Amino acid sequence: MTTIGIIGAGHIGSQIARKAVELGYDVVISNSRGPETLAGLVAELGPRARATTPAEAAAAGDFAVVTVPLKSIGDLPVEPLAGKIVIDTNNYYWERDGRFPALDNGEETTSGLLQKLLPTSKVAKGFNHIMAREITSDGAPAGTENRRALATASDYLDASDLVTELYDEFGFDTVNIGPLSESWRVERDRPAYVIRQNAAELKENLAQATRTI
Ligand SMILES: NC(=O)c1ccc[n+]([C@@H]2O[C@H](COP(=O)([O-])OP(=O)(O)OC[C@H]3O[C@@H](n4cnc5c(N)ncnc54)[C@H](OP(=O)(O)O)[C@@H]3O)[C@@H](O)[C@H]2O)c1
Repeated sequence: MTTIGIIGAGHIGSQIARKAVELGYDVVISNSRGPETLAGLVAELGPRARATTPAEAAAAGDFAVVTVPLKSIGDLPVEPLAGKIVIDTNNYYWERDGRFPALDNGEETTSGLLQKLLPTSKVAKGFNHIMAREITSDGAPAGTENRRALATASDYLDASDLVTELYDEFGFDTVNIGPLSESWRVERDRPAYVIRQNAAELKENLAQATRTI
């Protein structure tokens, strides 16, 4: 039985939890306000889910999903995530997150920043360019014509492989962009961002992206 530790229980965290439970994963989910505030979600998710603190969710997960606003990544529990694959859904909204000069200058990527904060974890970008509601509605079995594709990126092959397997189970093809340093190609305001596209279309959109907007 595989357990996913989820940090962040908002639009994306709750949707990943719903699909994961449907697929037979155990889910340990957390937010900033405490597990008692997730009683309704846990009741909806059923016996495969429980709510706890971010540190305990990180510790319980065979791998983790970090799905908090970018401005909060400095609060993440570093030690319990050590050695684990961490799927990062982050996007940079300066209107919400404040200014990150390294992102504004095109020197860093959102997931690259997370990797630096979690140096002993294996960060992989995932689920950052799909609207939350579409995680449970847009998947289709492997081999379906025009199946939707999602991108990943990581400095660790086993991390991008895990995202690829998870995407397939969730109903999506994968396009692997390569290392985190290239993950800007699927960030906000680029051609591949939050549109429905198959693998060929996604590859083309990634290739057309420019570094700074
Ligand atoms: N919404 C989308 O369709 C979408 C699509 C792709 C990617 N994304 C990206 O994915 C990330 C999450 O987006 P979202 O829409 O799911 O956000 P959201 O609905 O605002 O949910 C954010 C979650 O993070 C939790 N959180 C905030 N600070 C935390 C901390 N320090 N420790 C633990 N948990 C914390 C919040 O808990 P509390 O409520 O208790 O504060 C909440 O459960 C963002 O970077 C976003 O840009 C969003």
